[in-house]
Amino acid sequence: MTPDRMTTLFFELFSGLPRQGPGDTASTLRALALVPGVGPRTRVLDIGCGTGCQTLVLARNSAARIVAVDNHPPFVDALNREADRLGVADRLEARVADMRKLDFADGCFDLIWSEGAIYSMGFEAGLRGWRRLLAPRGHIALTEVCWRKPDPPGECAAFWKQEYPAIREAPALLEAIAACGYDTVGHFPLPASAWWDDYYRPLQANVTAFRQRYADAPDARELADQCQHEIDVWRAYADFYGYEFFVLRAR
Ligand SMILES: C[S@@+](CC[C@H](N)C(=O)[O-])C[C@H]1O[C@@H](n2cnc3c(N)ncnc32)[C@H](O)[C@@H]1O
Repeated sequence: MTPDRMTTLFFELFSGLPRQGPGDTASTLRALALVPGVGPRTRVLDIGCGTGCQTLVLARNSAARIVAVDNHPPFVDALNREADRLGVADRLEARVADMRKLDFADGCFDLIWSEGAIYSMGFEAGLRGWRRLLAPRGHIALTEVCWRKPDPPGECAAFWKQEYPAIREAPALLEAIAACGYDTVGHFPLPASAWWDDYYRPLQANVTAFRQRYADAPDARELADQCQHEIDVWRAYADFYGYEFFVLRAR
């Protein structure tokens, strides 16, 4: 499969989902409540916003000014259209940008938000790299996958070794946070429903339809198999891993 075809098929498989990773409105609001003083003067940067499910929650539940970035232009366009439709486009703008090369001025955000995205840059690399964008004592709210129990079964361990070998337990993430120069204001796990309701459930429907559509295309079937495996691993071993929401303050 060429990289172009892989990308096209990948985004087709993930199209039309309410969100592009685990998360839910209640958890976004719970994390927002841990950030003090969010108001009309607060400048927020949502990194890896996808189609902006959480960005819109922030916009509708605060008066903050928000810039949201993602490197997939159709997600950015979709978020800008939705911000227009909901009447929040005067203070929410989505832009195409690479989270590894953000060219905003130093100190120009009070709050960085990033749900389910820092992994693609690396946890420490993101925490260290984004820090210069924060005003003094600025906050970061983010989610990261972690082990919940030791000794995961072989199939589960093998999946994560392949997909994200940097997965750790929450205490190790808290140590990394401190080493990167942040204090942890609070942290809590995402509920299992945050994986299923707006993510794996609609993704499962996409996988089934995609498999039928591409019944004669082995490369597409392989992609569907990989995605199905991810969902199946979660169904079998969800007790062993999960996402943790962290709210941090720069020291
Ligand atoms: C798992 S999705 C999470 C999206 C959204 N925050 C949510 O929770 O639904 C990760 C997002 O990060 C974006 N992304 C991946 N690598 C990126 C990069 N280098 N720069 C900017 N965005 C990136 C992807 O396009 C995708 O939208």
